[in-house]
Amino acid sequence: MPAVRSITGKSLLGLVLCACISTYGAITELSGPKRWILSTERSAYLISVTPEDRVINDWWGPQLAKGDYTVSAWHPKPFSEGPARQEYAPWGGMYYAEPSVKVRFVDGNRDLQLRFKTAQVSSNHLAIQMTDEHYPFDVSLHYNILEQLDLIERWAEIRNRCQDAVQIEVAASALWSFPPRQHWRMRYLAGRYGAETQVHDIDLGQGKFQIESRRGASSHQFSPFFAVSEAGTVSEESGSAWFGELAWSGSWKIGAEINSIGKLQVYGGIHDFDFEWKLDPGESFVTPNFVGGFSDEGYGGASRRLARYQREEILPRTHAEEMRPVIFNSCYATELNVNFQQQTGLAARPAELGAELFVVDDGWFSGRTNDFAGLGDWTPDTNKFPGGLKPLIEAVRQRGMKFGLWVEPEMVNRRSKLFKEHPDWVFAFPHRAGSEQRNQLMLNFSKPEVVEHMFGVLDGLLRDNDIAFLKWDMNRHVSEPGWLEAPPEQQKEIWVRHVRGVYGLIDRLRSKHPDVLWENCSGGGGRADLGMLSRTDQVWVSDNTDPLDRLRIQFGYTHAFAPKTMVNWVTDNPDGTSKSTIPLSFRFHVAEMGVLGLGGNILNWSEEEMCAAKTQVAQYKSFRHLIQNGELFRIGSPEEKACGFNYVDRQKNNAVALLFRPFSNFGETREFRIPGLAPDKTYRVILEADAKNPKSRVLGILSGRALLQEGIGPGLNGQFLSAVIKISSVE
Ligand code: DGJ
Repeated sequence: MPAVRSITGKSLLGLVLCACISTYGAITELSGPKRWILSTERSAYLISVTPEDRVINDWWGPQLAKGDYTVSAWHPKPFSEGPARQEYAPWGGMYYAEPSVKVRFVDGNRDLQLRFKTAQVSSNHLAIQMTDEHYPFDVSLHYNILEQLDLIERWAEIRNRCQDAVQIEVAASALWSFPPRQHWRMRYLAGRYGAETQVHDIDLGQGKFQIESRRGASSHQFSPFFAVSEAGTVSEESGSAWFGELAWSGSWKIGAEINSIGKLQVYGGIHDFDFEWKLDPGESFVTPNFVGGFSDEGYGGASRRLARYQREEILPRTHAEEMRPVIFNSCYATELNVNFQQQTGLAARPAELGAELFVVDDGWFSGRTNDFAGLGDWTPDTNKFPGGLKPLIEAVRQRGMKFGLWVEPEMVNRRSKLFKEHPDWVFAFPHRAGSEQRNQLMLNFSKPEVVEHMFGVLDGLLRDNDIAFLKWDMNRHVSEPGWLEAPPEQQKEIWVRHVRGVYGLIDRLRSKHPDVLWENCSGGGGRADLGMLSRTDQVWVSDNTDPLDRLRIQFGYTHAFAPKTMVNWVTDNPDGTSKSTIPLSFRFHVAEMGVLGLGGNILNWSEEEMCAAKTQVAQYKSFRHLIQNGELFRIGSPEEKACGFNYVDRQKNNAVALLFRPFSNFGETREFRIPGLAPDKTYRVILEADAKNPKSRVLGILSGRALLQEGIGPGLNGQFLSAVIKISSVE
């Protein structure tokens, strides 16, 4: 936490009349009634203390200007759902909306009455402490201001100073309030296995709309992300959008609630379903971070702020700046049937194509003859790899690639040594058989001995082998969440303790093996969230590799996550699951939208395909710095006849645009408008070579304004056509 700065007494803009003002970096403190303005480059967030000592929000939106507020603050009146626009709403008194915190004191009192106590301000951090009227029980609200990103990180710290334990029943991360608008709309990401992160828009009305996961992982079904706007006023690149994303990898909920007088609040945090936490005297419970932001550049601006946030603040620092390598992963080619001979043979082909990392997926470990056995026993199967992994690693290294390995540490098969030795390590309820998915059970990482065991195993694997990359998978979510040895009042803590166990294990392994790159997978994108992204470098966003499906998945994914974290695949033709037959260049261009991965059985690829693929990989490498570290401007959507993705560097000197015609469009407009460039700069626009155009060629020399207004026509007339356009400023 940043050091607390002393009050400077510097006067601010004459913004608030008669108020005593102090500024600390991004925070301006006003006195009179206590108020704080949290300022970012293009937004402001105003917090006030009411005469009843409640902490409320009364501005979140564009920057405040002189005279927007006077010291005689207007405070929203309580209404029938309870006190309005609270920054964090305790359940108690006449509060009928979704509470942020709900507790049970030892004497049975469940009425929590939090009142403002004190605040600590430093350059970009504000901590507001509220205390119960009677019990020594505090909630501190934390605000971290990321000025350049127009983002505020929020979390709450709940502290018990009573003599007895207090049971926490609800502990949200934040409650966000919004200015009055007639008609709100919410954008969110939903889906299922193989169809993750689909974009949905819903009109909000009186009542609650909640997205959530009760699965112990953030899930394929919903992503912990929201964006709200006034209906009809926001588009991809214009209008006001408020958005947020939760950094939690277990069960969670985010809800938009409109009360009877039309006011919107968004709550979010760890799911309170089946949750309880015993807070012992002197202990604190710290909620996950819920980052929120305001964009005056539509949904595109919201996504860019989140992507930059991930690149600059969230992703593990050890690899944050590095380019993600071109990967080959064995799973689409060989599934579980891996062995030394065949993987060594396979490795020659990706090396020829320019892959930089060779990853052996599921199937390499002891007893893994099929998916009924082996999970839990993380030593190489001696039938498949008689000399262990070293000879294969050596062969891969000789091909000029690094070596990576798949693991699924939270899982166990009944047919494994681990389960035989520790049948009590799995989640289970008495008198219940326990549900299996993919024939596997889940280890209970709430138990320190389970985590400790797994640390020893994985640490040994990384120590003894030259492994540069670990793919951490999770192919089922929690069921029968019983933790039998725990006292009854703590059994529901597993939802949090398991996630903390996973986090702790990855953190320990990473600090011991800082060079290893990590990939986060959960049967595809079943655990993509900021919590995992702060400890893994990239995400396997879906198992589905059909290029049309991928366009939708990836379009949605980029709303909440940085392209640098998005691993995409070029597999076989026809596609293994959808059986679609789509030109190689289209498949490559779709996969080039983030981190390029090669899958499929490339031993079967023709010489012509190998040659075209080699060219595509080399092209991708020539512009991947823009894809991975640039700012993304989306063009249209995959549901339309034209869609594209323009990745621009921060200085707006260079860009690369991936353009697609997913559907036939006979006689339709053929131009693509290109957003994100500097209107007054002049650019050379080059169409990259592909199978149809063996030579790259200049499409024009145009200003950024012309590229946005009139666009360019790369000649994509027909279905499954795509192009790569390289754009560079000419002075
Ligand atoms: C599910 C993952 O999403 C796949 O990529 C693959 O690793 C399989 N698990 C392996 O069992």
